[in-house]
Amino acid sequence: MTDHSTSRYADLSRMAFGFAGSQILYAAVRLGVPDALAAGAMPVEKLAHSLGCDPGGLSRLLRALVVLGVAEEASPGHVALAALGEPLLAGHPRSMRSSVLLLGDPATWQAWGALTHGARTGEAAFDHVHGRPLFDHLACHPELSGIFNTAMREGTGWIAPEVPKAYDFTGARTVADIGGGNGALLAAILAAAPGVRGILFDTAEGVAGASEVLRRAGVSDRCSIERGDFFERVPAADLMLVKGVLHDWDDQRCAALLRRCRESIAAHGRLLVLEPVLPSRLGTAEAAGVVMSDIAMLVYTGGRERGRDEFRRLLAAGGFGLADVTPPLAGSPIRILVADPV
Ligand SMILES: C[S@@+](CC[C@H](N)C(=O)[O-])C[C@H]1O[C@@H](n2cnc3c(N)ncnc32)[C@H](O)[C@@H]1O
Repeated sequence: MTDHSTSRYADLSRMAFGFAGSQILYAAVRLGVPDALAAGAMPVEKLAHSLGCDPGGLSRLLRALVVLGVAEEASPGHVALAALGEPLLAGHPRSMRSSVLLLGDPATWQAWGALTHGARTGEAAFDHVHGRPLFDHLACHPELSGIFNTAMREGTGWIAPEVPKAYDFTGARTVADIGGGNGALLAAILAAAPGVRGILFDTAEGVAGASEVLRRAGVSDRCSIERGDFFERVPAADLMLVKGVLHDWDDQRCAALLRRCRESIAAHGRLLVLEPVLPSRLGTAEAAGVVMSDIAMLVYTGGRERGRDEFRRLLAAGGFGLADVTPPLAGSPIRILVADPV
């Protein structure tokens, strides 16, 4: 008979101590360790001096990074960035730097400490800790808002080129990305569909940095940026995108947002909702990813991830019929839910 007690103990310990890994990465990025090591191995003393850190304190952090496999001891007293740590660099093509900064920031980090409250009440842990919703908090904290926007771009940027491969946008006249953030997705769509015009719609904080993203993609001349509140109005278009937005909100708010889309969409128009879809059974890698995202929504916004039938009902409440659901995009849990006005 196998005794599982040791491995159980190890598994539970790893989970219970999971916050440490998150904060080790956060501290390293916040202090600028990965970027300081971008050019190669460095003596620990010199690194501490250049980052303005106590050599003793920094060498302990570096040792932890070595244990996690993010850094390596190049030679005695010299540390280098390991391959695992390269996505922590600001200039890495699939950088996770801002995602690490967002997850470890005191404001979001403290919200995880109120998950018990979230589970007991169903309310957003963030609101309980900070006394206001995440997006209101971001509006008053420009530095964190910038980190949030860049983290969203990091998460959306690598998947964006997959979207025009999974859905043909060339027949559309105008594509509006509602809650489109700084435009990473819309830029990729417009680049793949040269005859199409775009409207990026988000709050003033959300679109900060969007002009640069659109300019770098070479699509500025075909894309306008509109600022506003999507619960009040959205711009008119024949194709509307809503990515990573519905999971931020409860059903009532989602239905209100979808009704705004229904009011402005062309009669022959289409709505594409890009979200993870909660499978009906747990036990798959896809389900595990969506469940973790769901619990994060309970912490950050009070929103939720949804299954196919929940999306169908939500879309119907907003005046849309679900016509199709694509397979997950490029190994991510995100699918395109295609909906038509009814
Ligand atoms: C999770 S982010 C997703 C951004 C982008 N669609 C993506 O997937 O990368 C949610 C977006 O909704 C925007 N948002 C939140 N409340 C809004 C509101 N009332 N009106 C317009 N945009 C809003 C935020 O600024 C943010 O850019």
